[in-house]
Amino acid sequence: MSHGLVIVGGSYAGVQIAASARDAGYAGRIRLVSAEKTAPYHRPPLSKAYLLGKTERESLSLRGAAFYEQERVELILETPIHGADRAGRTLTTAKGEVLHFDQLALATGARARALPATPDNVLTLRDIADADALREAARSATSVVVIGGGYIGLEAAASLTQLGKRVTVVEMQDRLLARAATPVLAGFVADAHRARGVALILNARGFEFDHDHGVLTGVRVREGEGPERAIAADIAIVGIGVVPNVELAMMLGLKVEDGIVVDARARCLDSTTGEALADFVAAGDVTRHPSRWAPNAAPTLRLESVQNATDQARVTGATLAGTTGAYDAVPWFWSDQFDLKLQMVGLPGVPDRTVPRGDMAANRFSLFHFRAGKLVGVDSVNRPADHMLARRLLASGTTLTPEQAQDATFDLKSAMVSA
Ligand code: APR
Repeated sequence: MSHGLVIVGGSYAGVQIAASARDAGYAGRIRLVSAEKTAPYHRPPLSKAYLLGKTERESLSLRGAAFYEQERVELILETPIHGADRAGRTLTTAKGEVLHFDQLALATGARARALPATPDNVLTLRDIADADALREAARSATSVVVIGGGYIGLEAAASLTQLGKRVTVVEMQDRLLARAATPVLAGFVADAHRARGVALILNARGFEFDHDHGVLTGVRVREGEGPERAIAADIAIVGIGVVPNVELAMMLGLKVEDGIVVDARARCLDSTTGEALADFVAAGDVTRHPSRWAPNAAPTLRLESVQNATDQARVTGATLAGTTGAYDAVPWFWSDQFDLKLQMVGLPGVPDRTVPRGDMAANRFSLFHFRAGKLVGVDSVNRPADHMLARRLLASGTTLTPEQAQDATFDLKSAMVSA
């Protein structure tokens, strides 16, 4: 056991694997290798408080220096890994240095999908370097086009509108948040953005950049079959989803299917035999794992969230230390846009019945989603207590009817106790 554990990826999953391995009694050497210059930090504020200039770098730190020292975790920054060999149990850094390991944890995350051949000032937003570049470019900008109406695009749109920029969101689908939110919530979010000054173009077609000597000046786009519109823009932000970083897993002969496939204990699988490999584990955005929460009875899921990275990494750490446990946590997410705190729990997909609880007109409500009579998800807007309860309702499998959910006098807590 002289080489110990190497964790590739310095974000939520990587840090939590190290912490949980130690908690579960892992005594060997632990190295946490990150391509980034900055020690692991909180990412969600990058499109919100950090972009708004309300939070500074120092307060983003995920764990203080004391954590790495006390837990004996060697943090190796600015070290992209370019090669991996399973038989020899080695990694090769971009500079050609070889790292030996006994156990390997892949927490390589995902990268922002990019558009090909873009002019200057077309930016993505995934890490702190991206956020710094955007903050700098935003200083002198007056108009911004956001490409993609997912959470990243909408959070950036809200922050930049609050900074006084003229913002247009361009989404190719017929609604916002098509991947990650229910239609009712997405409709509410669209109305909220329009009411706060964001221009939305849905069903976007024929998208093109305009530029002057390689520097962005605007975009041209049609809304459905409508006429072409030219929108001036000093900056464009591309938020069109992410691509999991599976390259190392492929070099290692691990099973990959839109993500590194892992079992419930976060063990990777051999790409040929499907056998679970105890010394090769993975966690976070990069993984595809079995889940009873998957909508439409899909057997496996790839989730992009802090909750998933953290909770799955707890199981990963325990697996490395030789203890058992299965990843089964209920998925939850959040997003802050303008004065709206959105909190989602469960994966309702497209539910067959949705009932509201609370006051939609006052921007304080929850949407309870049902499929085949069963509660499958709850979206809350400025109702954090509902969200916390909903997490417990779903995790405990409590039976709740749509009538109970929408009855403001019905005590949700009592339903859980009696379940
Ligand atoms: N033009 C316009 N819209 C596009 C295009 C395009 N060429 N390609 C994709 N889109 C739209 C999709 O229809 C979708 O609505 O971009 C949106 C992307 O949304 P997500 O897949 O949710 O990705 P994104 O918002 O980039 O978030 C990436 O960061 O904050 C996290 O939870 C978030 O994990 C997610 C990740």
